Amino acid sequence: MTETATPPAAGRCPVAHGFDAMSDDYYRDPSTHFARVRDEHPVFWYPWLNAWVVTRREDVLRVLADWREFSSSGNTATIEVPEKHRDVVPQGLMSEMIVGTDPDLHTVHRNAALRGFTQDRMEALRPQIEERAHRILDKIETRGSGDLMEEYCLELTTQTLLAHLGLGWEHDAMMRRLRGDMGRVLSSAQEEMPAEIVDEVWERFAASFARLQAVVAERRENPGDDFISDMATQRTRDGAYVLTVPQVALHVCEFALAGADTTAQAMANAVLFLAEKEHYVEEALQDPALWANVFEETVRRRPSSPFASRKAMRDLEISGVRIAKGDMVWVSLASANTDPAHVERPFEFDIHREDPTDHLAFTAGRHTCLGQALARVQGATGLRVLFERLPSLRPAAEVPLDFARMALLPVRLSLPVVWDVADVERQKKRVKREMDLVLTGREEVADGVVALRFAHPDGDVLPDWEPGAHVDVRVPVDGGVLVRQYSLSSSPSQRHEWRLGVLREEGGRGGSRAVHDRLEVGARVRLGWPRNNFRFVPSPRYVFVAGGIGITPILPMIEKAEAEGAEWELHYGGRTRSSMAFLDELERYGDRVRTIPQDECGHPDLPGIFAAVRPGTLVYACGPEPLLTALEGALAHWPAGTLHTERFAPRKVVRDAPDEAFEVEFAQSGVRARVPVGKSVLQVAEEHGITALSSCKEGTCGTCETRILHGSADHRDSILTPAEQAADGTMMICVSRAARGCPRLVLDA
Ligand code: FES
Repeated sequence: MTETATPPAAGRCPVAHGFDAMSDDYYRDPSTHFARVRDEHPVFWYPWLNAWVVTRREDVLRVLADWREFSSSGNTATIEVPEKHRDVVPQGLMSEMIVGTDPDLHTVHRNAALRGFTQDRMEALRPQIEERAHRILDKIETRGSGDLMEEYCLELTTQTLLAHLGLGWEHDAMMRRLRGDMGRVLSSAQEEMPAEIVDEVWERFAASFARLQAVVAERRENPGDDFISDMATQRTRDGAYVLTVPQVALHVCEFALAGADTTAQAMANAVLFLAEKEHYVEEALQDPALWANVFEETVRRRPSSPFASRKAMRDLEISGVRIAKGDMVWVSLASANTDPAHVERPFEFDIHREDPTDHLAFTAGRHTCLGQALARVQGATGLRVLFERLPSLRPAAEVPLDFARMALLPVRLSLPVVWDVADVERQKKRVKREMDLVLTGREEVADGVVALRFAHPDGDVLPDWEPGAHVDVRVPVDGGVLVRQYSLSSSPSQRHEWRLGVLREEGGRGGSRAVHDRLEVGARVRLGWPRNNFRFVPSPRYVFVAGGIGITPILPMIEKAEAEGAEWELHYGGRTRSSMAFLDELERYGDRVRTIPQDECGHPDLPGIFAAVRPGTLVYACGPEPLLTALEGALAHWPAGTLHTERFAPRKVVRDAPDEAFEVEFAQSGVRARVPVGKSVLQVAEEHGITALSSCKEGTCGTCETRILHGSADHRDSILTPAEQAADGTMMICVSRAARGCPRLVLDA
């Protein structure tokens, strides 16, 4: 780059004929559009923007690196705040946007914001992003089609942004509006818009801005663990606040635009690229680390923000073209990322590049994207969860060029996609879904029984569940974590809270003792999604039998039976009345509840209760093994399928011949292996790197249920009914083996 002595020619040139940033060709693929003009015109004047466009990577890097010659001030200096809104948004404030400042002001503001974007903080967000992605997909997965952009990508990025900023759901609509309004406000520095649109945008923007200022001021007084509080409370060495309240609110507006849209665009673009290389989905599902490469290659090939703009601060020359002081210079990141002088096979989407991050999608120099760590974590995680749940997802046959056509920023508005719903349930079982919840309540509800209440930290609704469901709870113990399963005992209609009842078992393996001794109100606890092996089937009449803490899954069943007008009765036994939890809750049902404390009444008279067969009755029972065994005997003369049980501990399995080794084939991966005596199929699968979910590893939770494609199993679980076991459709691979005489099992894993 050399300084020129002469002023630029009037009527700038060269102009790249054929370049049209508002054309369909550009919106379809900005990189290839640039490639058509780059060789002949590496730098050209674009009259529509009144700016120079720089296309070669080497030149782009020069412009981005030298803030003294190429100032960012031109990005915001011409934004005109309408007179009537200047009491809320002072005119001078707009030029303090991070995107529109140079050092030293830029350094101060950027550093104030940077604390909220450390890699550690971003990594801590990963589980939350994953959980949100699952909850969004829970709502749409059975539909088989949808608008990925609106219903998944933007939903995920907006929810994450709200959580990162520490804004509750009451701000959701405002932040979604602000995204578009901020884009328009920024664009107003570069392009003319109809007066009525400008009016509308500023009206909404000023209202949002006033509301954000109130939040920032409040956060300054009562800081939380969030990004707004971080920025609002930082002080200089002499104790003054680093940023004013309006400055913090302004930066929140910038992040509203950059934080949600760009990553959403990238995820949608990735889906389009992957549709052309379907085998990449399979590869990344096998090796999840590759989702990061998918994201990087997507933004290399098609950056979400394909441009960065600067103002020339003196007369100079780029690639032989003279630029006048004061001219706007737009560097094309899309073009630089596909410059053949730097990238081999620049237009090929290749997730195996040697250095996947070698691109300028997040720009370079002092204005390198602040939120790139968040974008990377969110993009890779969002794509991984999307394809783990819906591996057949692909763009619909017709994908319209549906873009908001703002000054060279191709913002995709929709992406219609389709997927096969046939295996949605099966896929869901293969993916571990967990979330961090807050213990909001803890109460002794009987001798040795504590009721725990959990809520989402964001106050969000919790996943749906049906009576009979249980959840995995990760319980911290000395030296690690134990995963324990507890039934949900609250009402499924209570969408914001789950309740579990936990009996302290002194002779157990330590999980319940740790729950009682360690979990205090306010603790963050990791819980799994509800799973149900004790499904409540519609019937005109029910008999419920509960023993001790076995009452927990029965409570929501009673509520449902009651709501559906079914006839029902409960026989509830326990050692003593004081050891029987939730008796007060059951009082309202009167004599339909028969409480049978053992020290007062002995054991329930099961043969008497079930002496006469009542057709159309279903029996649901949960309790200790002797109770369930006695019940099986008492119901022996009832129709098959009457009894539904849930066990605390695995059913005892006695075999009269020793176990034998057998061969297992995991059909999806094509792996064949021997399952020796003393090892489970699950262990063998894990040894061969096959993804197989598990939790209890004793045949009681159903997590490891796997479809049998060929062969017959010796079922040793405590979940499948005798009829299900006889059907041999699935098996619990943590305990069940190949049936005697079956040398080879083929499993859908
Ligand atoms: Fe619980 Fe297999 S891991 S049933």
